[in-house]
Order: sequence, then structure tokens, then C-alpha cells
Amino acid sequence: MHNVRNITSDILLIGGSDRRLSLFENVFPVPRGVSYNAYLVRDEKTVLLDTADSAVGAHFYENLEHALQGRPLDYIVINHMEPDHCSTLGAVLRTHPKAQVVASAKAISMIGQFFDADVTNRCVTVKEGDTLSTGRHTLTFVMAPMVHWPEVMVTYDAAEKVLFSADAFGTFGALNGNIFADEVNFKTEWLPDARRYYTNIVGKYGAQVQTLLKKAAGLDIQYLCPLHGPIWREDAAWFVEKYQRWSSYTPEDKTAAIFCGSIYGNTENAAELLAARLAEKGVRDVRLYDVSHTHVSELVAEAFRCSHLVFASATYNGEIYTPMDNFLRDLKSHGLRNRTVGLIENGTWAPVSGKQMAELLGAMKDMTILEGTVSLKSSAKEPQREALEALADALAAGILA
Ligand code: FEO
Repeated sequence: MHNVRNITSDILLIGGSDRRLSLFENVFPVPRGVSYNAYLVRDEKTVLLDTADSAVGAHFYENLEHALQGRPLDYIVINHMEPDHCSTLGAVLRTHPKAQVVASAKAISMIGQFFDADVTNRCVTVKEGDTLSTGRHTLTFVMAPMVHWPEVMVTYDAAEKVLFSADAFGTFGALNGNIFADEVNFKTEWLPDARRYYTNIVGKYGAQVQTLLKKAAGLDIQYLCPLHGPIWREDAAWFVEKYQRWSSYTPEDKTAAIFCGSIYGNTENAAELLAARLAEKGVRDVRLYDVSHTHVSELVAEAFRCSHLVFASATYNGEIYTPMDNFLRDLKSHGLRNRTVGLIENGTWAPVSGKQMAELLGAMKDMTILEGTVSLKSSAKEPQREALEALADALAAGILA
């Protein structure tokens, strides 16, 4: 049964939510599900903005046909060609053969890469600032390369002040009847998943997100319509400010996150001693994560959130303990920068993880690595207690400043 929702009288939400998917992009757990938002502008001309993942294809096709009310589909605007938004595009192209495809040149070329479809005779290639009049509405296309793929653009409707923002301002989490962010507890219940979505999906492309934010600042926006998650019609400035922080690699919270990779618990014990000293020195909301047990996407999100990071790792095969190594490389590939870092290493006969972690972190931009790596041989003893106290002093001085 169709489930079409009105955003305005002319603009409809026609996507769907998937609560069965375990791993988004086959890597990120989505226990709260995920929505694939597609939109229809029903004006003198009809315009579909993006399609949806095939997982919700049956609902999407039904919604599209219901929303069209028997009218032909005139235009298909493609803001993003990633399959979570375009895997149903091939079918829509076949069922609406007269619909014109409106997209960037890169998106047009990707259509042929994903589908056996030739759209050369039915495409309108658009570039920055081009417009499409549909009657009451005029859509303006704003290029947003690398937010999150090179072909991405966003679409602005001046008539109702709507920005169709593609992946930007999206979040993990299925829509549960409430489609607007002001209808859910976004700031408490949704923010961690929004941060995890941003940092892991788009986090590497902070500079490109900053460029888009500058362009968006020049638009009068009443509705922010992303491809995932709730639609913003109130207090969008709060979410935009989060994007400003995340994309500029500015920490949200002045506190410490301690990440430990521990084989038998001895490295974890040192991490706990450090956490206790930090708490005693007045640092609030210290977090301690076991990198073998917390999914790396949550670890990445926490590293983006916190100002001070401690990496405590066993030595393993003469290298950094594998889950920690994987996490650090993930941080590097997501472009994290501008953090103060402390290090704890462990190794029964040849502890080298500290030096190797320092090399990895040193290759990242604007990282301040604190002096005095705490070095354990098997387990913490009195000398390490002193070294941990010194590390806690240095961290607390920065956090509480
Ligand atoms: Fe939601 Fe980059 O796709």
C-alpha cells in the first residue's frame, strides 16, 4: 500500500525505510535501520528527485505511481548516483520512457556504467546555477562534488525554500511515521547516528562540505530534505552548526576518549587507571572503548566528537594490535585532524606499538602528540602509575583550560 507523505502541498516524500539491513554499504551496522528518501515535485510538470535503494523498491514504485496520480513523469533529477539512491533508476527509466533525466555530466556518465541504459537523447546536463522551471517552482542546481561522490549536486526550490541536499544532512535511522526532525528527539536520540553517518560516510571530504555550506548560507532555506533520515523545517541552524564542526574537524566536546586494544586485559587496566586519574582531576564524561568490541564506525564518530584522544595498544606480531591498527588507519583515511593525543603501549618482550602509533598519527594533520608515551612490559607497575599520572596531568590541563 502506498505511503506518500506531504512535505508541502506540492512536494511529496515517496521513499521508504529499511529495517532489515544489517550493514549499510556492507560495513556500517544500522540497528535503527535507514531511510532512502526520494521526492516528487507535483507542479505543472512532475519532477522526481532521486530514486531509492532496491530494498525498498516495491514501496517506492507504488509511491511514485500513486503520487503521479496518473500523470506522466516529466523529469528525473539525479542529485547522487550511488546505488543506495539509484538502484531503482533503471526501472524508472524503463517505465517512464519520456521522462527527461536532469543531472551533472558526471552523473550522466555514471548511468551508463551502472545500467544498460542510453539516456543521451533524453538528458539535460546541468551545471552550477542552471535552473529548471516546472510551473510554480523553479529548481536551481548547485554542484556539490565529493559530498559524497564527484557527480553530486543539490537542488534548491526558491518557491517553497526547499533544499534537496543529497547525502548532506542525512543520518542513519529508519523513519517511523514522523518524517520531520522536530517530531523526534533528534538532539538526544538521533545525534549519535547522525554523527556516525557523517563522519564515516562524508568525513574525509570536510573541505568539500565546507564549500557546500558556504553556498547554502546564501540560500533562504525553510525545508532541508536529505536523502536519509528526517526532514528539517525547524532549527536547521542547529544541525548546520554540527556540520560546520564536523567538516572543519573541530571537536564538539572538550573531553577524553580512551581507545584500548588489549589482548588479556593488562593494557585495558592501564587505560582504566588513566580514566580514573582523569576523572579525579575533574574531567567529565571520559569514555573508554575496547576497540575489539565497539564497531569501528562508532570509534571514528567518537574520535570526531572528542578533543583529546588516547590510544592504548598491545604490540602484536611486532606491530600495532590489529583492531587498533585498523581503527587508526580508518581515522587517517577519514582525514581526522586537530586533536591532542596520548599514547600507551604494551609488549611483553619488545613493546613497539607506541612508536608505530606515533608514526601513523604523526602523518595526520594538526595532531599534537603528547610527550611521554606510557610503556608497559606485560602489565602496569609503580613506574607506569607515575607515567599515567603525568599523562593524566597533561590531558587534564588541556581539557580543563
Ligand atoms: Fe546515501 Fe552517498 O549515498
